[in-house]
Amino acid sequence: MSDTSLETIVSLCKRRGFIYQGSEIYGGLAGTWDYGPLGVALKRNITNLWWKTFVENRDDMLGVDAAIMMNQKVWQASGHVHTFTDPVVECSNCNGRFRADKIDTSKCPTCGKEGTFGEPRQFNMMFKTPFGPTWSSFESDDRNHVTGKLEVKDKEGRVINEFTIKEKEANNSIMVYDTNAKVYLRPETAQGIFTNYKNIVDSFYPDVPFGIAQQGKAFRNEISPRDFVFRAREFEQMEIEYFIHPEQWQESFEQWVTDIEAFLKDLGLPDEKVHKLEVPDKDRAHYSKRTIDFEFDFPIGREELLGLAYRTDFDLMNIQKDSGKNMEYRPKDGGAAFVPHVIEPSFGVERAIMAVLSAAYTEDEINGEKRAYLKLPNHLAPVKIAVSPLLRNKPELVTKAKEIYAMLKKEFGAVMWDDNGNIGKRYRRQDEIGTPYCVTVDFETLEGDGTVTVRNRNTTEQHRVLPSNIKDFTKDLLSS
Ligand code: GAP
Repeated sequence: MSDTSLETIVSLCKRRGFIYQGSEIYGGLAGTWDYGPLGVALKRNITNLWWKTFVENRDDMLGVDAAIMMNQKVWQASGHVHTFTDPVVECSNCNGRFRADKIDTSKCPTCGKEGTFGEPRQFNMMFKTPFGPTWSSFESDDRNHVTGKLEVKDKEGRVINEFTIKEKEANNSIMVYDTNAKVYLRPETAQGIFTNYKNIVDSFYPDVPFGIAQQGKAFRNEISPRDFVFRAREFEQMEIEYFIHPEQWQESFEQWVTDIEAFLKDLGLPDEKVHKLEVPDKDRAHYSKRTIDFEFDFPIGREELLGLAYRTDFDLMNIQKDSGKNMEYRPKDGGAAFVPHVIEPSFGVERAIMAVLSAAYTEDEINGEKRAYLKLPNHLAPVKIAVSPLLRNKPELVTKAKEIYAMLKKEFGAVMWDDNGNIGKRYRRQDEIGTPYCVTVDFETLEGDGTVTVRNRNTTEQHRVLPSNIKDFTKDLLSS
């Protein structure tokens, strides 16, 4: 268990502009979250680090960015249409719906009534949406009432059911759509990789083993979204499908364990908070022969951060069967053709952010005063340096500080101008968002030896440094 509470992280995220509740202004939308300026910066630093580590810095990896909406056959072949379900129960008293495997079903957690749940039903978590101009609508009149007739036809066009909609109040219109023209919002980015495997082999002809990587949004209609961004309905994944010869799977799996561990270190996650769970047969996803969940001691307890799965040839074989296209790989040395097997490291961006924030959150006491700061690795900090004039109403200080700000921004990019409140408040704010250095222009800069103060976030120590030496003094920002 982490020593930081979830409330502390959520409140810091909102107060300082990392993450807000989605649609908050209209009362929110459960399981959706909006990233503010610092949240976007942190998220990009994490996703860029992942891309650099696993794609740019390697010779065996190629990237894709597939469409979120895909032909529904993709999700039939992958098994998601039939098996991507969670058991749901409904309380007959308050109509609350819950994941049956996450609650004690003898008593409703909302209304407290006993014996109100029936048998669990399997609920498919994919979001469905109509695709293309397939709507038939019942127009509303000027009182916003609709009337009309709805016919349900079989494949031969015979009417098998008919509904009359009479004076029903609706927002705009009632819409009906043809089920053949629906798409699912992807519940994992993985399928956009599998469906492009053949394209990539045809264009690049990489040697096996090779991987295809993708980052992007995924959507799951979670029955109970909860615990901040940990279980959301819209989130991001960073996934790799690593294509191997079937005989290589164990060796490759072990190598991925090592590579993942190294990446988690780069995220600044302490070893003692990361745990590997060998997932037992009964709990593994339908496609996996072996899975290790990398768990983390989150503020909500020990939970899954990411998964590493041996997906065998499950996906490529299903695609081969359903599409009729050959998925075999022909080695360049003339060896026998084979359908590659796959090792899949699957990272969730939101869980990485939550782990990074809770690992970085630190409290200490400076001169008898409690202080909270984010001890982020420099390469993840949303702001690298904050520059301030000691007083915002002294033009000479402001002019000099602006000059230094422009110089540092050119060098480090993520440099913030901060002249809000007094200097103590600025330091507290910058500590809380994890800024490694604060540079302040004061009267000594103008009237003394020309130096500015450079304050270190972790130690709070301040050093007097000539503006021309700041880059050198803070050079660890570039090397880490
Ligand atoms: N392609 C394999 C796959 O999607 P998964 O274990 O279902 O496997 C992978 O998901 C990762 O995606 C998880 O380890 C987690 O980090 C993240 N994830 C899954 N569901 C999530 C949700 N509802 N909210 C936030 N992250 C989620």
